Amino acid sequence: MRTKVVDLAALAALCISAVCVRCDAQILSEWRFSRDGGKNWEDVSVPHDWAIAGPFDIRNDLQKVKILENGEEKESVKSGRTGALPWVGGALYSRKVTVPEGTGYAALVFDGVMSECEVYADGKKIGGWKHGYNAFAVELPPVAGEHEIVVKTHNRPESSRWYPGAGIYRRVKFLTGGETGLEVWGNAVYSPDLETVKVTSECRGRVSKVIHRMLDGGREIARTGNGTLKGKFEPWSPESPKLYTLVTEVYDAAGALADRAEEKIGVRTLEYGKDGFKLNGVKRKFKGVCLHHDLGPLGAAFNGDAFRRQLALLKEMGCDSIRTAHNMPGEEQLEICDEMGVMVMAESFDSWAAAKCRNGYNLFFDGWWRRDIENLVKKCRNRPSVVMWSIGNEITEQVNAEGLRLSRELQAWCRRFDPDPGRKVTQGLSWMPGAIESGVVAAMEIPAVTYRLPFYKAICEASPYGFVLGAETASTVSSRGEYFFPVEVTDKPYHGNLQCSGYDVEYCIWSNLPDDDWAVQDDNPWTIGEFVWTGFDYLGEPTPYDMHWPSRSSYFGIFDLAGLPKDRYWLYRSRWNTSSRTCHLVPHWTWPGREGKVTPVYCYTDSPEAELFVNGRSQGRRKKDPSSRLDRYRLRWNDVVYEPGELKVVAYAADGGKVSQAVVRTAGRAAKVKVEKRRFGSLLFVEATVTDADGNWVPGFDGVLKVRTSGKLRFKAVCNGDATSLESFHLPRMKAFHGKLTAICEGEGEDVDVSLGGMEI
Ligand code: GAL
Repeated sequence: MRTKVVDLAALAALCISAVCVRCDAQILSEWRFSRDGGKNWEDVSVPHDWAIAGPFDIRNDLQKVKILENGEEKESVKSGRTGALPWVGGALYSRKVTVPEGTGYAALVFDGVMSECEVYADGKKIGGWKHGYNAFAVELPPVAGEHEIVVKTHNRPESSRWYPGAGIYRRVKFLTGGETGLEVWGNAVYSPDLETVKVTSECRGRVSKVIHRMLDGGREIARTGNGTLKGKFEPWSPESPKLYTLVTEVYDAAGALADRAEEKIGVRTLEYGKDGFKLNGVKRKFKGVCLHHDLGPLGAAFNGDAFRRQLALLKEMGCDSIRTAHNMPGEEQLEICDEMGVMVMAESFDSWAAAKCRNGYNLFFDGWWRRDIENLVKKCRNRPSVVMWSIGNEITEQVNAEGLRLSRELQAWCRRFDPDPGRKVTQGLSWMPGAIESGVVAAMEIPAVTYRLPFYKAICEASPYGFVLGAETASTVSSRGEYFFPVEVTDKPYHGNLQCSGYDVEYCIWSNLPDDDWAVQDDNPWTIGEFVWTGFDYLGEPTPYDMHWPSRSSYFGIFDLAGLPKDRYWLYRSRWNTSSRTCHLVPHWTWPGREGKVTPVYCYTDSPEAELFVNGRSQGRRKKDPSSRLDRYRLRWNDVVYEPGELKVVAYAADGGKVSQAVVRTAGRAAKVKVEKRRFGSLLFVEATVTDADGNWVPGFDGVLKVRTSGKLRFKAVCNGDATSLESFHLPRMKAFHGKLTAICEGEGEDVDVSLGGMEI
């Protein structure tokens, strides 16, 4: 929250004596790391995830469990449930910090350590935190000189339902200052209307006054000594994420400047009610996705540039919000959401006292939830992107009186630390009608449900607020580039190669298709939108293949683990992106051996109507049909007979004019690799596609691709999006999955080659 003051001249001018007492925040990225109790150490850079390097192994956190949520009646062995990576166990981190002369206050702020961490200074325990997803501060005796900091972490087996990562996976700050100053997360900021910003500041020491100033690009536009800033502010929204700088100056008893903090804030209002959800007075429905915290091949170690890429891809699809499922978001993650314009449901827990996993947060809930909610809310409350809190996901207690009591208490606890009356509290409710009967639905400020479309109406009626949010929707499963024939709509998919259909017709017994969610949203004005499970595939939870090795990552993503779009991307884009045309054909058109066989063709488009051609011969025009489950939002030609050549679709606007088209061609032999490079900060993402000599994508290619960098660019990771691949993410070679993969490089320049089977192209 506090940012380092970078203007050294101004810093010097403001120092009131030989000793500068202003609070300074240093990011601690260099640490030493040991996995053998301190016998051997290596230098690492934090954020760090010690398990992502692998190797994948079926024995890693093999869980014998019965997953109630999946309707399972008896225990069975789940192999890749938490990613099959070696994250269980303990580790040590250590480094030195120097407390400057004249320091009156020193603290370390950890944004997330996985998990059960203990912090020591010079051999003495000074703090720690159980929950791996929360931020916490530990004070250090402000004794001038060098201090040895040691952080111990410990991950228990069966403590998660997905890959949690391991170690200090978010940033660490070292704060030093005077006896008087702003507390960590001491500011509470909100806008009651678009012309007012209210700030309260919790301080330590003896304070004579606190001054707040608001800057727009360095220019002061408002100032106050009473906590109320007035002005004509530009509102923050996903479409225009305007940010201002709030400067807080804390003066000590003698009237001298003792501390100065800067943070970015936004001005926006939130309303939830019978009229739906309004941002800055304008009604809208959430076009959101749930996101786990891992970044695919980079693991859980937070990387702002990789996260920026995720958000850029999501925004291009038309997505405007994320749910940090089922975790507390990182500070940098929220800073990026603020900056890029993405609304956030900030979640807290996947379980309360009743266990979902033997060693999950249930072990700590009773003693820790108040502290956990307090830190979550204090850390995140000033972020304009955060538009709601979630006190839990599919909590077991939701069906009983204890669940009702706790729902009320946790909700009130959020409110206690959040000054913004517009921001409300929710939880993802799933057991229906149990959660209606227990009173939990009625107790929540934002009634929200996961799946269970047939219950939306009853939930709306049970809630005094008169609207419903889809906290989790779809859970459709698919694999990029995989298609199975005949095309079958099913909630119990199984294919021998452990993949799911790219026709987007497979889901789970508790879930549904995107089309089903949209029908309910469109037919019921009291729905306020959705958070799709999930934006990106994540490590772990390989449903529907939880029991089938070597599946080790999810199939739910709109994007695969490599950040490559599955067909579903275009389906969501056709609805969510209202400023660009979408016209996409499913499947690819390279089917040696399928000649003469029925090969259905789907078109995902924003247009109401389109005509399909195979080698120039019309296959007829199709119109979207609101009365049909699968033709309301897609255009389908179910009887197309495959012949090699060209598949083309032409889409028409309602007035009959041609507006877009898409073409796919049958590919020949793999001949070259086409690369598309996209830079986000220090990372260069290289999306490689194997093509034939004419540049047509070769979807059947699964040979090895090699990545070679030169100059100032270094190879960092590679991923092909295949949920069953056991290849290392960290060697510069990998098999392509359906002719594609993504290589991630770090550093300057664009000197990277991706070549077929080791041969330079
Ligand atoms: C939900 C759950 C998610 C994930 C999803 C898979 O019930 O909240 O965490 O497990 O199912 O469909």
